[in-house]
Amino acid sequence: MTSLLFFVVASFCMVCRGSERDVFLHIFDKYDNRIRPVKETNTTTYVGTQFQIISLLEVNGQQEYVKMAVFFKLNWTDEYLTWNPADFGGTEYIRAHAKEVWTPNFAIVTTSLATEEFIPKEEQILGIHYTGGVDYSFPIVLTNYCPMQNDDFPFDSQTCAVKITSWKYTSRFVFLEHVPMINTGARNPNTEWEIMPHTNKSYDLTREGAGEDGVYRQIHYYITFKRKPTYYIWVIMVPTFIISALSIAGIFAPFNNSGDREEKVTLGLTTLLTLAVILSLVTEAMPKGTKLPVLGLFILMELVICTLSVATSIGISYLHERAVTRSWSIPKMFCFSFKSVACCFKTVNASECKVIAEKLTDKKHSILVKEKSNSGINSSMQHLESTLNDVKRWIQRADEEEVRKNHWTIIFDRVDATCFIFYELINIASLVIALH
Ligand SMILES: *[C@@H]1O[C@H](CO)[C@@H](O)[C@H](O)[C@H]1NC(C)=O
Ligand SMILES: *[C@@H]1O[C@H](CO)[C@@H](O)[C@H](O)[C@H]1NC(C)=O
Ligand SMILES: *[C@@H]1O[C@H](CO)[C@@H](O)[C@H](O)[C@H]1NC(C)=O
Repeated sequence: MTSLLFFVVASFCMVCRGSERDVFLHIFDKYDNRIRPVKETNTTTYVGTQFQIISLLEVNGQQEYVKMAVFFKLNWTDEYLTWNPADFGGTEYIRAHAKEVWTPNFAIVTTSLATEEFIPKEEQILGIHYTGGVDYSFPIVLTNYCPMQNDDFPFDSQTCAVKITSWKYTSRFVFLEHVPMINTGARNPNTEWEIMPHTNKSYDLTREGAGEDGVYRQIHYYITFKRKPTYYIWVIMVPTFIISALSIAGIFAPFNNSGDREEKVTLGLTTLLTLAVILSLVTEAMPKGTKLPVLGLFILMELVICTLSVATSIGISYLHERAVTRSWSIPKMFCFSFKSVACCFKTVNASECKVIAEKLTDKKHSILVKEKSNSGINSSMQHLESTLNDVKRWIQRADEEEVRKNHWTIIFDRVDATCFIFYELINIASLVIALH
């Protein structure tokens, strides 16, 4: 029984001739991989192309190139690589080394700076279908030129073209055509860039002076990368905004106004330095000679705001100093806010006020003096009184001076508060504009 089964199996296999090896021997007998595989010279070989990004490896903004691992898939019909599956035990598909089969003289042109193959050409494998259909897919690392549009950085997106063509054959012999793909997105996502599905376009390019025969078929794949701006927003924009907001708050803070202006200026200058360093960090990543991008403009704007607020603070400190030391009287426009002060009440100005005050005190005391005029110590009393009056007047003047100084301090505090609100509003506005 066992021997009978063995006999059946053995005899079946003798008939079938089904190994790939037999197909190989059959189709590669007399095959020449140097010749375009058509039986009529007139026949055009149509080559279907597909393209997919495996992953984005590098985007170099300064040297303007992108490096990516991509995957090309080509298919065409080889009229010599055909067999009848029935003769080979139903073998419909075999694999062969790419170097043994004719391949279209495929090249990535003009935009490519360098290509590296994952697998050397000698070891690449392609598949052959019994109808002569050949499919050939290979991954390569492509360093592709990509002009960078940085105006909107970090909200920018870049588009690069990968152009493929056949070097040797004009479109009369080898005609490239794009084959629709279900998934045109990248296989692996990138943390910094969002890779958009690519688009395709076909061109017929005429090589100069070649006439009708010199038409080459080119397929352009356009790849768009959109930058994810979150990193730049949280690591550069928000801290810059906070630094500026804090320094504006510090510069216009209403603490002791007399001696600490200096400190505020120092604070402002430190902030300017910090912002300048951040700005240089941002511009370092950009190709030089292009317009300053949105992020750069934002930091520059913050720098200008801080500079202006420091300048304003210096101006206020200068005026405050003058107002206190040069005995400037309080302008009438500020008087409404000091109702308790006679000195400044209504339209009477400071010096007139003083005179009135002096007259009032003089009257009181002269009445006192009259009542006691009969006594013997009249003259000495009078002397004492006038001295007392002098002292009183002096104290009063000192008081008034103090009040005036305080009023100036209050006025400048208000100016400070106004400037603070003004600059903070500009600061917020610039952040909002930068974020759109
Ligand atoms: C090749 O094509 C040309 C026209 O393009 C035609 O005149 C000629 O007969 C064709 N030759 C064959 C062998 O089919
Ligand atoms: C290439 O393959 C696609 C399907 O994947 C097919 O539609 C197309 O006709 C093939 N092209 C050639 C030239 O064989
Ligand atoms: C790219 O190819 C698809 C088919 O996959 C086609 O529908 C589309 O129109 C092509 N895009 C362009 C810009 O020609």
